[in-house]
Amino acid sequence: MKHVDVKDIMTDKSYVGKEVVVCGWVRTARDSKNMAFIELNDGTSLKHIQLVVNKEEFDKADSLATFTKLGSSLKAVGTVVPSAVAGDGSVEINVTELELLGPCPEDYPLQKKRTSLDTLRTMPHLRVRTNTFNAVFRARSVLAAAIHEYFQDRNYVYVNTPLITGSDCEGAGEMFRVTTQSYEDAAKYESAEEYYADDFFGKTAGLSVSGQLEGEVAAMAFGKIYTFGPSFRAEKSNTTRHVAEFWHVEPEVAFAELDDIIEIAEDMIKYVVKKYVETCPEELAFFEKFFEPGLSAKLQNVIDSDFQILDYTDAIKLLQEAPVDFKFPVEWGCDLQTEHERYITEEVFNKPVFVTNYPKEIKSFYMKQNPDGKTVAATDLLVPGIGEIIGCSEREADYDKLLEAMEVRGMDKESYADYIDLRKFGSVPHSGFGLGFERILMYVTGIQNIRDVILFPRTVGTIR
Ligand code: 4AD
Ligand code: MG
Repeated sequence: MKHVDVKDIMTDKSYVGKEVVVCGWVRTARDSKNMAFIELNDGTSLKHIQLVVNKEEFDKADSLATFTKLGSSLKAVGTVVPSAVAGDGSVEINVTELELLGPCPEDYPLQKKRTSLDTLRTMPHLRVRTNTFNAVFRARSVLAAAIHEYFQDRNYVYVNTPLITGSDCEGAGEMFRVTTQSYEDAAKYESAEEYYADDFFGKTAGLSVSGQLEGEVAAMAFGKIYTFGPSFRAEKSNTTRHVAEFWHVEPEVAFAELDDIIEIAEDMIKYVVKKYVETCPEELAFFEKFFEPGLSAKLQNVIDSDFQILDYTDAIKLLQEAPVDFKFPVEWGCDLQTEHERYITEEVFNKPVFVTNYPKEIKSFYMKQNPDGKTVAATDLLVPGIGEIIGCSEREADYDKLLEAMEVRGMDKESYADYIDLRKFGSVPHSGFGLGFERILMYVTGIQNIRDVILFPRTVGTIR
């Protein structure tokens, strides 16, 4: 079906005066005695194009009512002309031919009235046709491209790490199991070992929570790598910031220490936010109007100002001295709760904050131990309104120290043999981070529920 994108007609003035074919879905329609006005959206732009139909010249005027039903899909032929009323340089189409591709009956759930995001969540297959999701998914696409661009332009190699894994990267027991063994067969086995020995891989397997461990393997050959793919977490936390399947951006950089990787993370965030602000002015204005007043100024501030770096120990002091009654008590050694993160980012700094050098007990086995013996060279990037969007660390590059950290945690060294080998054969200082793609999307759109920035959210008790 040869046709032109609405976005191109709207931005390329050379279409004015030309005949075009457009296809799309009816978003609204008005009817007067002689004329009908149809707002058509083809998904290429947040704005709709107006189709102007002169009923007297239109041979299907009788059936126009079915053409103009909200949600119907149309193909229209007509001439691009400057908008008669807008007077702002925008264009509309004087229609000569109209073809109904698919009618849309009255029970179409998306009627003119604005539907709440909660209600839209019950129809993930249709909600994408609203302005909000049109804007969200363009932002998502532009951001994804900007992330690739950032790394590609800087000699990083894009690698795809396995989704099915035999080792748990974060070690927090949040893995989904991957098995072909059936529940009915379980009774046939004397022990769990025998049961798993008979499984597809001959041992337990799961969906990867992070591509980091394999990313480190690649970084030891290619120097700078990044992954951008799904990670899976079977966390039973039903929050507005957690999904069971999320998209994870994970660079891994050889010869980088904690300071270096912090610089890279900040630079990358600034780059992608800037790219988004430049590429998506209409979407940004839309989010500002309907979701977060002040969003543009917030993002400009992200681009222009230095992120805060705050040592964990100083963060604890700051929280202890805060004139706030936190629900979770604060003492050195505790993990920061959402209320603590929000206080630090929103009340104290009002910008992104890297909290560094966490106590080793609350962090993962692979993080480099600091000389103080108590902390690790790790950082979380916290942002106002959301909390953690990046988990980052320098990796333990010392063979003995890594083994010791694994032993303390009672980990099975066998299943990490390849990873441990990296410390044996030409080990180098290296660092990396994981950015939650949906989390940064929430940050740049002002959308408050992670379920609304991913096509089909997977959360505890919900899948469709
Ligand atoms: O802090 P996390 O657990 O770190 C890692 O997985 C490291 N292996 C990353 C690395 O160094 N390569 O996860 C990283 C980020 C979090 O900061 C958060 O933004 C996101 O992944 N994330 C989630 N996003 C949505 N839903 C969930 N359930 C998430 N869990 C983590
Ligand atoms: Mg984390």
